[in-house]
Amino acid sequence: MIDMHCHVLPWVDDGASSLEEGLALVEVAAASGIGTMVLTPKVDPGRHDNTRTNLTRKFDAFRTLAIRRGLEVELHLGAEAILSPAMMELLGRGEVPFVGRWCGHDVLLLRWQEPYIPVGAVGAMKQMLDQHVLPMLVHPERNPGVVRFPQALEMFVGEGCLIQVDSASLIGTHGPEVEATARLLIERGWASVVASNARSAIESPARLRRGFEILADLYGADRARALVVDHPAALLRVDPNEAAGLRDAPDPIATDEVPTLPPEFQISGRRSPGFVHPSNVSVH
Ligand SMILES: [Fe+2]
Repeated sequence: MIDMHCHVLPWVDDGASSLEEGLALVEVAAASGIGTMVLTPKVDPGRHDNTRTNLTRKFDAFRTLAIRRGLEVELHLGAEAILSPAMMELLGRGEVPFVGRWCGHDVLLLRWQEPYIPVGAVGAMKQMLDQHVLPMLVHPERNPGVVRFPQALEMFVGEGCLIQVDSASLIGTHGPEVEATARLLIERGWASVVASNARSAIESPARLRRGFEILADLYGADRARALVVDHPAALLRVDPNEAAGLRDAPDPIATDEVPTLPPEFQISGRRSPGFVHPSNVSVH
């Protein structure tokens, strides 16, 4: 599996609070069948004052230690950007790490902090798209405004925005309404990635495995694999089997065949008709 959202890089946000805790979480991830993790510290000026420059130094040191420890998980640096004017300013200066590339756009993990869809969300999205930045909305199923009126997301999906669902939402950790909304986003084909959002031993990377199992039960193994392996691999532009560590993963993920990606990941936004199916993206 590939985990595109976690807070295991220590001392940078409200995730891992020590080097040992961060490394232990990577170890748990490996044991649960995760082969690649994108570390996504919060970029939230005034609260978590992270920038690409300072995060890169810390990430490089952490990755080196993980390799020395013998942890067989490929680590990438990304970020979870909290929408605000100050974050937009950092973004404009190239100081917010991305989680991948998609159809000529840098993919930004974007979170709305408010318990509703912020007034400036549409304008910010359009500003990002103008800068060839494609937002991937983080766990909108946990946003009370979206829970009440999921259809509000259509304007974002229609413009090409991607959606990431928390595995914990599928497990039911955040309650039945969030769980139902998470399923709805997947059933409508709006969600393209499911990730752990791990930050501690309790909120563990192993939740992604449980989320995969639930997806496989509800929608079949191919659809589950698309959400936790193939789509993340397409965004990272890596070989899905290698990145997911499939050779070591327990069934039912292990397979020699890469299935054709399901149609729900086609991006046919009104604004960006040039978006194409991820299977057409070359793998490097
Ligand atoms: Fe997060």
